[in-house]
Amino acid sequence: MTASADHPLAADALDGLWSDPPTLPTKWLYDERGSRLFDEITRVPEYYPTRRETEILQEHSASIAAATDASTMVEFGSGTSTKTRLLLRAFADRAAQTGNGFTYVPLDVSTEILESSAVTLAADYPGIAVEPVVGDFTAPDLALPPAPGPRIVVFLGGTIGNFDDKERAVFLERLAAALAPGDFFLLGADLVKDTGRLVAAYNDKAGVTADFNRNMIEVLRSGLDAQGLYVDDFDHIARWNPRRHRIEMWLRARRDIDVYFEVLQRSWRLPRGAEVLTEISTKFDRRALDDELGDAGLPVVQTWTDGAEDFVLALSRR
Ligand code: SAH
Ligand code: TRP
Repeated sequence: MTASADHPLAADALDGLWSDPPTLPTKWLYDERGSRLFDEITRVPEYYPTRRETEILQEHSASIAAATDASTMVEFGSGTSTKTRLLLRAFADRAAQTGNGFTYVPLDVSTEILESSAVTLAADYPGIAVEPVVGDFTAPDLALPPAPGPRIVVFLGGTIGNFDDKERAVFLERLAAALAPGDFFLLGADLVKDTGRLVAAYNDKAGVTADFNRNMIEVLRSGLDAQGLYVDDFDHIARWNPRRHRIEMWLRARRDIDVYFEVLQRSWRLPRGAEVLTEISTKFDRRALDDELGDAGLPVVQTWTDGAEDFVLALSRR
């Protein structure tokens, strides 16, 4: 057996797979292979968000460092921290000038990627203390490390869009409670745009996103010791939901699926054509996002966008 019945994947599978529609929390997409595939997605030509957000960070990281004067940066869902390097450079330069120290706390569920990135970052930024944390940013008891000066929490990549409206409200409420007055929150969010471009970004021609989505089946198979569950029995589907202004990622059964999960001691059936919801990616309206952050006690002090107005960075102050 590769996971015990009290493994969090077992609990989430019991909760999600028997729901209508069947679903699983997004974080299960990010085992080591999933994290590497996501990193590859950020470089496919159709996936514009990473390039747009990088463009904004290239332009404005120095102003963000100056405006916040933070002593500590906590990043939720840091992944490989590639874009974050632009912020780290700006904060390291500032720390060198002011003589104050700077600490970077990347937080992610994906242990291997987190730890290997932290080692490289520590070597590349000797002036910064890098203190990785394996953790879940949806945890109810979300706590931030104490710091000698203002803290900045950064949440990039449009990952905020992976919550539904309710989950997002809960997340922002917990975050606002965890921040002290004077702390900052830097949020990267993807904006509503032409549907064709949106769908293409989640259905690239090379099929990297399809492999990433279908990897969830492999995570289930190996984690729950499943018989009769095969990646090749599922198609990747990305659809725009206009009512909820979000991309939805589904896995559609190519044939009748009949699985036995050893770890759960349960069978699971999915008829041909039925779909499992694996991910949503909500797209935002700039003004509505500002209002939402303000209502959560995180009033926006400044926003930046890229030349094409595809993506937005919003800086809030608690
Ligand atoms: N910030 C990077 C990666 C975004 S992908 C970028 O902008 O490119 C989303 C990241 O969040 C992945 O690294 C994934 O492992 C992590 N993640 C997903 N759900 C999480 C959760 N509940 N808690 C902590 N990390 C999570
Ligand atoms: N946070 C990313 C986004 O919403 C995650 C992501 C990109 C993703 N492509 C994906 C998740 C494909 C699932 C499937 O853009």
